[in-house]
Amino acid sequence: MTDAGRLIPRDRTAHPDPYDPGYKTSVLRSPNQALLSMESTPTEEWGPTFGHDQLGPLDNNLILNWTKGEAPAVGERILVHGHVLDELGKPVPHTLVEVWQANAGGRYRHHKDTYFAPLDPNFGGCGRTITDENGYYQFMTIKPGAYPWPNRGNDWRPAHIHYSIFGHSFGQRLISQMYFEGDPLMRYCPIFHTVKDRGQLDSLVAPLDMTMSRPLDYLTYKFDIVLRGRRQTMFENKPEGL
Ligand SMILES: [Fe+2]
Repeated sequence: MTDAGRLIPRDRTAHPDPYDPGYKTSVLRSPNQALLSMESTPTEEWGPTFGHDQLGPLDNNLILNWTKGEAPAVGERILVHGHVLDELGKPVPHTLVEVWQANAGGRYRHHKDTYFAPLDPNFGGCGRTITDENGYYQFMTIKPGAYPWPNRGNDWRPAHIHYSIFGHSFGQRLISQMYFEGDPLMRYCPIFHTVKDRGQLDSLVAPLDMTMSRPLDYLTYKFDIVLRGRRQTMFENKPEGL
């Protein structure tokens, strides 16, 4: 069955408020007038699409992709895996999942990052993968370090991995962050706490998943992602046109 149908309107109550004084830069970045609702266009509802042939064999291995397999990155080796689902619980197959993160010391490979932690010559910090027909994805990486950031004097970002998930189209795209179970810095992070709902916060935290960990090699964290769904037009209990 094709995944036809219009996108379900975004539930803005499930997303953090763009204005949050505890997160200093949100004050100037957030809109100061009411948002206008606009009709989506076909481009937003149906594209873009990505194929497995566009990815390299090491794209989903951040331990090795920076050196093209020649030398591994420094850090605690982890596998991250999970499913991309829509809000109706349907898997989102063949969708591009992009990730980026700091190295094991908490430093990004970016010219504006001047934190004391050194760059790892074997770590770039970016990767990507495509979900399979069941919406499943996985990638290997090292556990990122926490890092301080200029906000209120002594704010630290908990260990986290940034995500972009395209879904079936631009209108379904989600940018978010994954955190690690048990990290005490989550308690103090104003970015983490821009999300006010306890259940929504919990959904950003990946639990340790020992069932998929490989002895003497790596630990595994499980992170499922939910995108907005598509509303099928039903006709005699079947999607219209099928
Ligand atoms: Fe970050």
